[in-house]
Amino acid sequence: MSTWTPESWRARPAAQQPEWPDPHRLDQALKQLSGLPPLVFAGEAASLRRALAQVARGEAFLLQAGDCAESFADFGADTIRDKLKVILQMAVVLTYAGGVPVVKLGRIAGQFAKPRSSPTEVVGGVEVPAFRGHIVNDDAPSPQARIPDPDRLVRAYHQSASTLNLLRAFTKGGYADLSQVHVWNQEFVASSPGGRQYAAVADEIERALRFMRACGINLGDEKDLHQVDFWTSHEALILGYEEALTRRDSLSGDWYDCSAHLLWVGERTRQPDGAHVEFLSGIANPVGAKVGPGATPEEVVTLCGRLDPDRQPGRLTLVSRMGAEAVGETLPPLLRAVAASGHPVVWACDPMHGNTFTGPGGRKTRHFEHVVAEISGFFDACRSAGTWPGGVHVELTGDNVTECLGGSEAIGEDDLELRYTTTCDPRLNGRQSLDLAFRVADLLRR
Ligand code: PEP
Ligand code: CO
Repeated sequence: MSTWTPESWRARPAAQQPEWPDPHRLDQALKQLSGLPPLVFAGEAASLRRALAQVARGEAFLLQAGDCAESFADFGADTIRDKLKVILQMAVVLTYAGGVPVVKLGRIAGQFAKPRSSPTEVVGGVEVPAFRGHIVNDDAPSPQARIPDPDRLVRAYHQSASTLNLLRAFTKGGYADLSQVHVWNQEFVASSPGGRQYAAVADEIERALRFMRACGINLGDEKDLHQVDFWTSHEALILGYEEALTRRDSLSGDWYDCSAHLLWVGERTRQPDGAHVEFLSGIANPVGAKVGPGATPEEVVTLCGRLDPDRQPGRLTLVSRMGAEAVGETLPPLLRAVAASGHPVVWACDPMHGNTFTGPGGRKTRHFEHVVAEISGFFDACRSAGTWPGGVHVELTGDNVTECLGGSEAIGEDDLELRYTTTCDPRLNGRQSLDLAFRVADLLRR
């Protein structure tokens, strides 16, 4: 008999929770959230689970992408549009050049909370509490700014709602129409090899559409050419927030966390007996778990048992984040153990978090070639184990930032100072993201 309830996580050790200074104000904020409308509908989360079941069967590929941390400050239509645009472009490349349907899942409309390795950090010689994402505190490096503020939970909800509203408008209202493939590319096309390569793909798609029209096919009737399904996800870190948005689906009677379509636990919160895994174990959404180089096969199989007891395809996505150097050694035993356990998981590769280092100027960065190398090592490991390399999970932005090194523009260490705007981890910029899509498409074709 299950003892799970939306609040049963409270009886378990919960890592990475903020120390809210005023419990009364926290309760008020959570109470307010529990009376607000859900952000997503249970039926949508169930559709994503079915789409991920296709990935688990090796019939589709998952592209999960977006900011490391969304920001209250950098919030506007252009930023949302440009992020969506680069994800749609990557999906076109993977679908066309890689030859597989792509499940498009944003780290967006709720990706605000950050787990930290240390509760404090030193900024300019002063030790201050760590920044935990705009849903908790402010990134300004002062002790005052870092005090957790429960009003931020409500603000994160409202920003997620507006973001999701615009995403729905763009993806269902014409912006994502396949006839727009060229329009998405305007600023990259002349100025980068990836942009020119993309323009060639877009030309071919346009030719194929013209051909179908000439054959008498009424493309206007083909809904899939004019709309895309775009799903949302974030790390389920602040459990009070997730609990407040968890609602019982009146149709199925199942509980869904209606803050996003998919929720995941991070490398720091995936303890099988911990509060985060307890929470995810009872919601019917598709769920994910990050798996780093320290994970043992036994741990991962135990996690599969907790999060996917019914062995349901599409329910669980394991996201490998080993680092380019370790992946060839650390991933294969996990792939074999999970395959032997019979859990039909999706395996995806996060090539970002195992490849972060601090550059000479003190900026956290990642190198494009390390990102590609980890994905390549992931594909090799999956293929040797007879497992479908099911997807990639990347941190990116549509903006022209200089946060990661390399790529076709050859961003160097001196360039990091130019446009480094992330509030947390370094992201691939639009061009690097498109370059990456072509490299992944090559791996898929091989
Ligand atoms: C993240 O996805 O931003 C993150 C913190 O990842 P991980 O849990 O894998 O370290
Ligand atoms: Co990150």
